[in-house]
Amino acid sequence: MSVPFVDLRARIESMRPEIDAAIDRVLDSGWFILGPEVEAFESELAATLGAREAVAVANGTEALELALRAAGVGPGDEVITTSLSAAFTGLAILATGARPVFVDVDETTLNLDPEAAARAASERTKAIVPVHLYGHPADMGALLALARERGLAVVEDACQAHGATYHGRPVGTLAGDEGLGAFSFYPTKNLGGLGDGGAIVAADRDTAALLRSLRNGGQSDRYHHDRPGINSRLDEIQAAVLRVGLRRLEGWNQRRRALFELYGRELAGAGLVLPREGADVRAVHHLYVVRHPRRDELMAALRERGVGTLIHYPIPLHLQPAFAAPGNERGRCPVAETAAGQLLSLPLYPELTDAQAGAVVAAVREALAGL
Ligand SMILES: Cc1ncc(COP(=O)(O)O)c(C=O)c1O
Repeated sequence: MSVPFVDLRARIESMRPEIDAAIDRVLDSGWFILGPEVEAFESELAATLGAREAVAVANGTEALELALRAAGVGPGDEVITTSLSAAFTGLAILATGARPVFVDVDETTLNLDPEAAARAASERTKAIVPVHLYGHPADMGALLALARERGLAVVEDACQAHGATYHGRPVGTLAGDEGLGAFSFYPTKNLGGLGDGGAIVAADRDTAALLRSLRNGGQSDRYHHDRPGINSRLDEIQAAVLRVGLRRLEGWNQRRRALFELYGRELAGAGLVLPREGADVRAVHHLYVVRHPRRDELMAALRERGVGTLIHYPIPLHLQPAFAAPGNERGRCPVAETAAGQLLSLPLYPELTDAQAGAVVAAVREALAGL
């Protein structure tokens, strides 16, 4: 049995009649950008994620960029973030004119290491961007304490963690009234659209109003541009389809958890480092990332057996040419550098059947035996 890394057609088919109806509704309305579907999606998303406000934008990268701008980040500032993330986290920081300062990760969770973040803080540091990598909340207690002590803004990158909680509170809302959380609705995310999409959650109504202006060219009123915003508007069709998905998010996350537990049971003792869920968090298992020192051979052996895998991420951000800058050299983030050579993401998505998961387990065990 071959198992693809992800199967979006299966996801769409599972809700096809509702998607068709949602798209028909928008076509019939004749309104395609920032309309009633976006407004309804924003309030339903805020309710689901336990936030006061949600502002829909065009993608997760711009959700991060605009959240940082709303938090006052701009040219000359430094923003601390993890070296192990999608490059888009760092690119969003660059887009504000600020400098991303990449720091090392915790050996177990692979999330931003609060001690490394504290060491990287300088006079110029304006904000911290913790990433809830693979759907597992970052060590927010320590990071929020650091932010309070140094007077730093906090923008959570929750692009992989829709519905995850930390000490019972939803990610994206953990920094309280001042904090902001960014989400992506890239098709493969825990909540994904039929294209790009994103959102920022906020507790403060004025900040939400500022974000609504920034996403729409900085307008305060039609054709009155008070500030240099960007075009980061969400389409009505995307919003209508995301509303369908939002109703399924909790069920999808539960299925992801069941598969996480299945892999944990069935792969125990197989010779891999398996992901673990920390105490007092509810992870949403966006990715199932194992570690093995001979990762490339394991990946090839799984490919031969028809199992699709990916690497999240093969190059730590401080070593990406896009972020070339003094200090961004090998040795800067040793934990992330070692991990990048060992990480392998196995298929885990709500539509994966138990039989497919069993086939992945069998292929992994066989592949490891042959290494
Ligand atoms: C951790 C993280 N941050 C930011 C992004 C950027 O989101 P988008 O692709 O919607 O711009 C992604 C997804 O690609 C992500 O996984």
